[in-house]
Amino acid sequence: MAQIRALVSLDDGIEEATVRAALPSDPAIQIVGFVRGVEESWATLQDTPTDLFVIVCQGYSERALSLIGGTAREHPGLPVVVLSQSSPDGFLSRLFEVGADDVVRLPESPERVRFALEKVVARRHAAVVASGSTSLGAMVCILGPKGGTGKTVTSANVGAALATAGKRVAVIDLDLQFGDVALCMGVRPETTIYDLATSPGSLDAEKLEAYLVPHESGARVLVAPTRPDQAVLINVEFLREIYSILRSISDFVVVDSAPGFTPEVISAIDASTHAVMLGMLDTLSLKNTRLGLETLELMGYDSERILLALNRADSRVGISDDDVMRIVGRRPEIRIPSDVEVTRSVNDGTPIVLSKPKSEAAQSFARLAEALVARADLPVPLLPTDEEPTPKPAVRRHLLARRQ
Ligand SMILES: Nc1ncnc2c1ncn2[C@@H]1O[C@H](COP(=O)(O)OP(=O)(O)OP(=O)(O)O)[C@@H](O)[C@H]1O
Ligand SMILES: [Mg+2]
Repeated sequence: MAQIRALVSLDDGIEEATVRAALPSDPAIQIVGFVRGVEESWATLQDTPTDLFVIVCQGYSERALSLIGGTAREHPGLPVVVLSQSSPDGFLSRLFEVGADDVVRLPESPERVRFALEKVVARRHAAVVASGSTSLGAMVCILGPKGGTGKTVTSANVGAALATAGKRVAVIDLDLQFGDVALCMGVRPETTIYDLATSPGSLDAEKLEAYLVPHESGARVLVAPTRPDQAVLINVEFLREIYSILRSISDFVVVDSAPGFTPEVISAIDASTHAVMLGMLDTLSLKNTRLGLETLELMGYDSERILLALNRADSRVGISDDDVMRIVGRRPEIRIPSDVEVTRSVNDGTPIVLSKPKSEAAQSFARLAEALVARADLPVPLLPTDEEPTPKPAVRRHLLARRQ
């Protein structure tokens, strides 16, 4: 294998000499620099050709998690390995959730560290070569604070609208237990994400494409498992690999999420470039929508990358945009009216943007798709700086603790 250029980011309390001793000294791994702190790591990554990012920490480290999440967004082709002197409860799985390719617990022999570093670089290289592309499409998470707000209907319609407009679209059903994107879009679940997860051999673009089910709009769907028990086989590490390959072969990856902030949903949010928060127009639902938006804020999600859409938003309900502003703290970008044709389109398995494109509901979904196209060129935000730490560590830890 060619020489690997590795940038090493040291967490507080980690001595450079200790890390040098832990790393292999042969020329196969060239250390291009040792950096400290999020900002310096980030700046150096921008200017220095790097094949591998190594993050060294003592134990639980918010900084490491932020850095990995940001690298996954900004440099999705760059593999990240964490060397950690301890792995407190939940930290290991969190590292994988945010985007680490591998974690090595120190002390470990330099030979084994070298093996781990070479392995992840080879794996990423194979995935990029197979996908034949390095430009990445946008990834949009359709979120709802609670069940039944219309996430699946919206995912199906936004996916179909974007595809009809000529975009390369992949829709992925992240409701791994009770996903119904296939039903809503009227595609046969001949191959599902479970089949992909249990198929032999490594994952690359060509293989993943074979598991996408084509929809009449031109969108391609990665269908949820057909039985709830199959969901356990799909872990967040595998999902992250899928996101990165799907983004390399699509202009838009639309993620239909399960209700609530499950580990899968949180890792999809971390990997996404945009989010649609879908609420409904009544006081209780609006309160939950506010909580959902606050959760995104606590995760450090840039509010400019969020669209607020209100489903079943009839003017007859008597809640104005000003009322929404007062309860939720922002105005909705899109209102989708309640329409029996939406239910009918779900029962028929044809998104309303195709079956009744002139209806007000279809026009609303089309406007949402247009708003996403308009925002897709926004520069991806920089990582939080040291002076202004977002995500807020204490709250984020609390969120994570609740999930474990
Ligand atoms: N604008 C609308 N007008 C009429 N019916 C709608 C509208 N939006 C959604 N529905 C209906 O509401 C039901 C729930 O929608 P959907 O399955 O998309 O919600 P969800 O948020 O994905 O639910 P879950 O949280 O269970 O995944 C569906 O039967 C759908 O037909
Ligand atoms: Mg759903």
